[in-house]
Amino acid sequence: MAIERTLSIIKPDAVGGNHIGAIYDRFEQAGLRIVGAKMLQLDDEKAGGFYAEHAERPFYNDLKSFMTSGPVLVSVLEGEDAIAKHRDIMGATNPKEAAEGTIRADFANSIDENAVHGSDSAQSAAREISYFFNEDEVCPRTR
Ligand code: TYD
Ligand code: MG
Repeated sequence: MAIERTLSIIKPDAVGGNHIGAIYDRFEQAGLRIVGAKMLQLDDEKAGGFYAEHAERPFYNDLKSFMTSGPVLVSVLEGEDAIAKHRDIMGATNPKEAAEGTIRADFANSIDENAVHGSDSAQSAAREISYFFNEDEVCPRTR
């Protein structure tokens, strides 16, 4: 299986709830390596551009309000099959439908405030990583 990179966002509810370390632990336990990381306060434009694919959806304005309601931690995760593996450990979009033991089952309260984001394909991972990170802000592991 190929080594991939994917974008993670720990959203304002999970940062505010002090769950960064617990969520990073899930990544590392799953064999994903954190190869880039930064905390950001998004504004309406930056959050809206990130979620541009949802611009016509009824929840778009609420999603932007939520994503700008406090800081987020954006990270680049690297590992074998990283994109699908990350989505697996995140759990379903709606935490009420998320499998037991997944991040969203354990740390999210509702579909609109659901703790984490993860890229859903190789194409979106490439777009989303470059949306937040310059090339020299991602550090390949040497050991
Ligand atoms: P989506 O890309 O469908 O989910 P995922 O984050 O699992 O890839 O939607 C993006 C975000 O939009 C989702 O994490 C939370 C928000 N959202 C809502 O608030 N209400 C909804 O009905 C949906 C589908 C998403
Ligand atoms: Mg999505």
